[in-house]
Amino acid sequence: EISTRVDEILAKMTLEEKVGQMTQVTLDVIAKGKDRMSSYEPLSLDRDLVKRAVSQYHIGSVLNAANNRALPKEKWYEVVKEIQDINKEETRLGIPIIYGLDMIHGATYTAGATMFPQQIGQAASRNPELVRRAAEITAYETRASGIPWNFSPVLDLGMDPRFSRQWESFGEDPYLTSVLGVEMINGYEGENNDIGDPEHIASTLKHFLGYHAVTSGKDRTPSYIPEAPLREYHLPPFKAAVDAGAHTIMINSGIINGIPVHANYDLLTSLLKEELGFEGLVVTDWVDIENLHRRDRVASSHREAVKMAINAGIDMSMVPYKYERFFDNLVDLVKAGEVKQSRIDDAVRRILKVKLALNLFETPVTHYSNYPKFGSKEFEQASYDMAAESITLLKNENNILPLEKNVKVLVTGPNANSMRTLNGAWTYSWQGEKTPEFAESYNTILEAIQNEIGEENVTYVPGVAYVDGGKYYEEEKLDFEKAVSEAKKVDYVILALGENSYTEKPGDLNDLYLSDHQTELAIELTKTGTPVILVLNEGRPRIISKFENEMKGILQAYLPGNFGGDALADIIFGDVNPSGKLPYTYPRYPNDLVPYIHKPSEEQEKAEGVYDYESHYNPQFLFGDGLSYTTFGYSDLELDKKTIGTDGNISVKVKVTNTGKRAGKEVVELYSSDLYASQMTPDVKRLRRFEKISLEPGETKTVTFQLGAKDLAYFTPKGESLVEPGEFTLMIENLKETFTITE
Ligand code: IFM
Repeated sequence: EISTRVDEILAKMTLEEKVGQMTQVTLDVIAKGKDRMSSYEPLSLDRDLVKRAVSQYHIGSVLNAANNRALPKEKWYEVVKEIQDINKEETRLGIPIIYGLDMIHGATYTAGATMFPQQIGQAASRNPELVRRAAEITAYETRASGIPWNFSPVLDLGMDPRFSRQWESFGEDPYLTSVLGVEMINGYEGENNDIGDPEHIASTLKHFLGYHAVTSGKDRTPSYIPEAPLREYHLPPFKAAVDAGAHTIMINSGIINGIPVHANYDLLTSLLKEELGFEGLVVTDWVDIENLHRRDRVASSHREAVKMAINAGIDMSMVPYKYERFFDNLVDLVKAGEVKQSRIDDAVRRILKVKLALNLFETPVTHYSNYPKFGSKEFEQASYDMAAESITLLKNENNILPLEKNVKVLVTGPNANSMRTLNGAWTYSWQGEKTPEFAESYNTILEAIQNEIGEENVTYVPGVAYVDGGKYYEEEKLDFEKAVSEAKKVDYVILALGENSYTEKPGDLNDLYLSDHQTELAIELTKTGTPVILVLNEGRPRIISKFENEMKGILQAYLPGNFGGDALADIIFGDVNPSGKLPYTYPRYPNDLVPYIHKPSEEQEKAEGVYDYESHYNPQFLFGDGLSYTTFGYSDLELDKKTIGTDGNISVKVKVTNTGKRAGKEVVELYSSDLYASQMTPDVKRLRRFEKISLEPGETKTVTFQLGAKDLAYFTPKGESLVEPGEFTLMIENLKETFTITE
């Protein structure tokens, strides 16, 4: 039915109306006043500018928030409604505008919405159900704000800890990313991708393809990715998400193998649209068509840039700074025969399909009054649960944790008393950080610890602080000596270190070690002899090897959202048993950034008598690390067959017992290792399946995984998938079994 309606609408449209649909403008260009992005003034639209954009340029989409703090959902309703109303009055066909925003860990742009841990923490939870639930709630609260399109999830692999957007990913593993990515899409779009349902939204897979794999570790710098690793690691999460029916996709702003992805026909059309069969809408990233001319210099003019991008397979241009120029150029290119009419029709067909699927023609803006559960306790609980399951216990010397509640502690460090660092990115300010309601609604780490053991038992001295209004990496000492002297008077120090919030390019880094001030604070505190529990609140694993040895307990909190402080306090004082697992490898040295997916030559042991290698594989913490307050025993690993064909399946069983004294959750992970592969050195090991289970003390559960020979295929240098007969080892925890794939 949708495709018939698309055909009917397309048949009525002029070339200009079609090109307009392919344009997405930022709210700035249709709002009153200058510098809307950083303004604290209330937002109001400039009706004349809206009229001009819709009637003269037929624009099809708007993105962004204009205020530097979140709009309440009632205000969002007014904004989106006004745009849709003007559009309806002023255009011949009244095709609704589609509004898009980055609701990346909750409805970020909407005041009072439920903010979840950022994606990296969600990956650490290894809990697909919680990931889906978080996405369902985000969809609900996004629709409550009248907005139907979310630029999420990120399916890039967070394989490089230097990268400023690692926290936006599900970490370094393609399988984990695929599984959780599909859950997130199902949460946003609904099981059957029924985005016409007013509680669902369209999702955006991003950033296709290989965005995080930059050689320099810095945002939007070149990547070199040969065909085999492109398909082996970077493509599977996108393929899984396309198969799951996601409606839209955003393109990598970077350059792969010398070619900007926005101008790459082979990736956008041959691979994405033809081979993967993606039928949805392909949107650029911010200003990225203009970047083909201004930054990447593959197009000698703006006109040439438009031609390259649209011919490569782009359907919608996100923020051409001068949208009039994009419009004029594209109309001209079609008239001159340099962009085919059929390409335009394909793009507009994809855009209209999404608008129709979202039911925007019937309900251009959903009304906030239909969303009574917005910001409810039930939703907040889901955010807390995710934080509690994501926080990862990395070290627990002599079971120092959990702490008794009748102790005195010093809470210190720049991340101890900040909602900003718990959320990361921009979302703290857009949630209204500076309003009293916000400050009163949520607990920082310090406040949560005070609630847990009483204010009178908690001393707070920052020691080091982020410079207010400074760059994210600017820090200063603040009562440094006092922090050290107070440490001597308490039973334990809880030291909250990490990073200030940052986003994209401004988060680029020159040194992966944790800052000098924070390192010094950690070292001076340990000299007092009072045991130090380190809490890491960071978007990427900053190196701590200069003092890790002296820490008695280490908790990785990631960016755990508005209830992260409460979840941390509950873990520290034993109300919650931690169950998070690292979704990346935590490096020990800046020159040892080897992910867990690597080749055997990365693991050379110290060579006897020849060289004393300093550089053998020795991360600080491994992918999958994460302790519990109980212990788990694994036994009886069994394969139902010892031999399967290249089309065969194998069933893998293992028993897991809670051998400790507390109930706990355990993530059972199945890894494989291909012993020999003739065309490509096999990876040392690969995650193939996982399941999170709960066990009471003494309880045993049997976990069964099904695995196909095809799951163990690898890509040849020519990019062909090959299930190669031979021996494979399957590993769960400390157990191993071998089986054979035959011809
Ligand atoms: O969705 C984002 C993208 O991840 C980075 N550039 C801007 C886009 C829209 O806000």
